[in-house]
Parts: sequence; C-alpha cells; structure tokens
Amino acid sequence: MMYNKCFKFDSIFIYTSFGLSEGFNHSSCEALEFKLVIHKGFNLISGIHSPEVVDQIHNFEIRDSDVFVITYPKSGTVWLQQILRLIEVKGDVTATNDRLNSERIPWMELLESEKQFVSAPSPRIHVSHLPYRFMPLGLKQKKGKVIYVARNPKDVLVSYFHFHKFANMLETPKDFDTFFEKFLEGNVFGNCWFEHVKSWCCHSDEMNFLYITYEEMIKDLRPVVERIVSFLGMDLTPQQLNDVVEHSTFRNMKNNPQANYQQVPGLLLNHQLGAFLRKGTVGDWKNYFTVAHNERFDKVYQEKIKDIPLSFMWDMSDLVTP
Ligand code: A3P
Repeated sequence: MMYNKCFKFDSIFIYTSFGLSEGFNHSSCEALEFKLVIHKGFNLISGIHSPEVVDQIHNFEIRDSDVFVITYPKSGTVWLQQILRLIEVKGDVTATNDRLNSERIPWMELLESEKQFVSAPSPRIHVSHLPYRFMPLGLKQKKGKVIYVARNPKDVLVSYFHFHKFANMLETPKDFDTFFEKFLEGNVFGNCWFEHVKSWCCHSDEMNFLYITYEEMIKDLRPVVERIVSFLGMDLTPQQLNDVVEHSTFRNMKNNPQANYQQVPGLLLNHQLGAFLRKGTVGDWKNYFTVAHNERFDKVYQEKIKDIPLSFMWDMSDLVTP
C-alpha cells in the first residue's frame, strides 16, 4: 500500500503524531515515501519508523528510573507528554519553553532513536505506540515504569479518521465508512485497537504498571495527575499540582507552541485540514457513527475484549458522578 505522498528532502526534522526525530537526515534520499510496512505482524510507517530500532528495543538496557508511556494512537499521547514534562519541572511552565515536548519525551520506535535512548540522562521518559511484545525485556523484571493510557475506541476511531485527513504520512480516507472498516480490521498504524489494549493489560502484573483512561482525565484531571505523581514516587505541593493541571488543559495546550504540534512542518501535517488538538472531548463518535456502525462496533467490541475486565465511559453523561 503506497500513499503517493512522496517528498524530496535534504535534511529535515521529522515531527509527527508518531514522533519527532531531531536532525533526522535524509540527504541520501531522493524521495521519501510514506507507506505502511508490516514488520513482524505490526504496521510501521516507512520513512518514520525503523524496523531495526523496533527489533533492538527488546534488548534495551532499562534503568529503574525509566518511564514508558504507552498508547494506541489518538488516545492522548500528546497530553501525557505535557503532563509528564510539567510533573518533572514541578508545574513550572516556563521551564518547558525551550524545547518541544516531543523532543523531551520522544517516541521509541523512530528512525535513529536508539542513540538518543541509550545516551539520554535519567530519568528517561519515552512514549510508544508499540504493542507489548516489542518492548524491553527488563520491564518484566519490574525495572522501569509503564503508564498505559486507554481511550474509548469509538472516540479513538473518530479522532484517527480526522488525523488521517491531515497527516501527510497517512493515507487519506476515502470516506468515514472506509476508515471505519480499516480501523476494525487493524489496517492502520497501531494495528488493532483491541489487540493493543489486550497485549498490555494481560501483562500488567509483570510490570510496574499504571493504567489510566483519557475519559477519567477529562472528568477530573487532578486526581489522575496525583496518581501519576505517586506512581512515579515524586512529591509535589498542592500548588505545584494545581500548576500541572492548569497548564495541561485543552485550552492552554492549544495555545502553547511547545505542546500543540503546530510547529510540525506542513509537509507532514497539513494544518489547513486539521489540528492536532482537535476537540478533546468524550462522545464525539455519536456525531459520526450511524446506528449500523454502532451495532457493528459493539458486536466486535464484545467479541474481542470479553475476557478483559475493562470498562469505558462513552459519553459526557457517563462522566457525571451521581
Ligand atoms: P481529538 O482528535 O478527539 O480531539 P494523541 O496525542 O494520542 O494523538 O491523541 C490526540 C487526541 O488527544 C486528540 O483528540 C486531542 O485533542 C486529545 N488531547 C490532547 N491534549 C488534550 C487535552 N489537554 N485535553 C483533552 N484532549 C486532549
């Protein structure tokens, strides 16, 4: 599958939803073609991800202080990058101004990211969309910490649909129906949502593991930030916690160039066609799913995750505590 989105590069920074690779050099490339390539059963994007790096991750040496934020695409990765960066600097947003969050908290699966991983000072914080089977073996010895962020998959689907429309490295969907089927088939980067969440949650006991959901962050961000702080063994004052929460709101992130991805070159994200921080809500799927879509989705959902005790909030009304 080729996206017919080929560009000539000399030297570029790759910034994407799936990561940023600083100084990534394509001088030897005449043209860069973005396409999904299957690597060991998992779709990667050529020109962005590296199968070689993905294969090395398994043997990466883990430090106790390492933190891995794991998400299926469109589950709030960028949100966690902002929160974790702010926790690191105890809520002081001015300390985040010099670099993009995606540089400080980079993706693991990108081209050339292994050098960055090995040489980064502690504490290393990384994000990844990879399924469990590719991740460092050291995690099973309870080294490092994993924060898994899940979002209800109907909203993930809608968010991903919009993202495909403005991300040049992804195939533009013909229409919502077509994308709906692709998502259910797992024929996208990240593969099958159901398998992703299962692959991590089934192994959660083996690791230092914190599971949080996008919806609980929307409902009330502060207790989630407190759980993250405590999981990381950090200590923030009430005022510092307030600052982390305040600078992580949708509105403030949308206005923050270090957090909102608007600096990603138009070559990779067509900013005329969408925004990374798009709606930031729960239940937007109701504006796109027909009754038939919903019935089909629910059937697949029941079949695929019936063995896993997961529950989601599907609508803003689910967020209201009685
Ligand atoms: P929508 O497209 O539904 O708006 P990811 O970083 O994993 O690609 O996830 C992107 C999604 O997270 C987008 O969802 C984006 O708006 C949402 N998001 C990012 N920061 C957020 C915040 N501070 N509050 C609410 N949603 C946020």
